Parts: sequence; C-alpha cells; structure tokens
Amino acid sequence: MPVAVDVYCCQGGATRGYQEAGFRVVGVDLDPQPRYVGDEFHQADAITWLDSHSEWIREHAAFVHASPPCQLDSDCQRIMGRDHPDLIEPTREVLDAIGIPYVIENVRGALPKLKNPVELCGAMFSLRTYRHRYFEAGGWTLTQPQHPAHAAPQTKMGRPPRDGEFVQAIGNFSGVAMVRDDWGVTWMNRDGIRESIPPAYAEYIGRQFLGQRAQAAA
Ligand SMILES: C[S@@+](CC[C@H](N)C(=O)[O-])C[C@H]1O[C@@H](n2cnc3c(N)ncnc32)[C@H](O)[C@@H]1O
Repeated sequence: MPVAVDVYCCQGGATRGYQEAGFRVVGVDLDPQPRYVGDEFHQADAITWLDSHSEWIREHAAFVHASPPCQLDSDCQRIMGRDHPDLIEPTREVLDAIGIPYVIENVRGALPKLKNPVELCGAMFSLRTYRHRYFEAGGWTLTQPQHPAHAAPQTKMGRPPRDGEFVQAIGNFSGVAMVRDDWGVTWMNRDGIRESIPPAYAEYIGRQFLGQRAQAAA
C-alpha cells in the first residue's frame, strides 16, 4: 500500500481522502489530535519532522500533503491583526529538498504565494458547500477539473441550513451534523470541520497521483 504523509493534518479531512484513494496515511501536527483518523500520528512541528525524517520519507513514502495554517491569509484574521508565521515557503523548501511529489493546500488569500494552483470546489464533488481551496502540485501534475456554476444559495451565518442551501463551514457555523454527513467526516467536531478540506478533494488528488504514477511505471 502506498504511504502518504499529511503534515498539518488536524483531525484528518485530507487524510481520510487519501485513505479512500488507497494510501496508508501518516499524520503530523503541532497539537495533539485525539480525533485524528490516520494510520499513524506524530505530534511535532511539520518542517522539523519532515527535515529529520527525510531519509525515511524517501524510502517509504510516495506522496506528501501539506496544509500550512491559513490564518495569515484569511480575511478575518487579518482584520483581527493576529501575527502568524508564514509556513508555505519553508514547507515548499523542505519538500523540494527531499524530492518527493507533493501538494501544498491553502485558501484564496494565499494565492500569490502558490505556484500554478488548481482550484477545487465542493460543487465539483456534489457536496453542499463551495469551500474553494487551492492546491500547488510539486514534482507532478494535478489537472484542473471543470468548475460548475454556483447555483445554490449559501446559508447565512448563524442560521441552520435550509433544504437546498449550501453551508459555509467557517466561524461558529450552524449545521455541524449536516456537514458531517455531507462530507463524510463523522468523527470531526466543529473545530476540525472549520479547518478541514472535504475528504473528496484529497481523494481526487490521491487518485490523480496514483494514476500518473501507474502510467509512468507502465
Ligand atoms: C488548516 S489545518 C489543516 C486541516 C487538514 N488539512 C484537514 O483537511 O483536516 C492546519 C493545522 O496545522 C497545525 N499546525 C500549525 N502550525 C503547525 C506546525 N508548525 N507544525 C505542524 N502543524 C502545525 C494546526 O494545529 C492545524 O491543525
């Protein structure tokens, strides 16, 4: 079974998608993550862990997913004036030095820092959320899917979702049960969902990667 490393894994939204695509997943996060659903977990700083495990990664892993915290680039945090370190560039540097294929995921505010990002949207996967997220592929090519028109209204913040509405899983959003069911993240609490990508995004990426790897090996 191919191994993926998911750094900045949180409760494991991306991890679950790679598992669905057929990977064994090793997660790394600075905080304890008692709800994490991966196959192995390490509590550590992501860059330090990647650097100190570079030999192991080259030998045993096929792929790395990295979701550096996005607070620096989200509008709400900018307004609140919080100071978060920018981890996108140092994460890319260590991944390039290891020489492993990867994706770095982030939010719209980080677009200027991402190289040739692919945009994923919940409507591409028949989910009840738009939740645009951006993915830089390093060492391989990720294909941009067609972006369906946004036809559904989004639930206003503070109101439970009504039939036919799409949920914005940000802040203190209502509709945790609906999102758990819609995204297939039954083990997550609100905090985990707010930080997460829907597993369907990572499953798409994981399947694309494995398809290309199989083609290259044929
Ligand atoms: C946006 S969340 C990742 C969400 C995850 N990709 C998912 O789909 O569920 C970012 C995570 O990075 C973690 N984090 C922040 N700084 C870190 C660091 N220096 N090293 C490792 N993890 C870190 C946070 O604890 C948080 O869980």
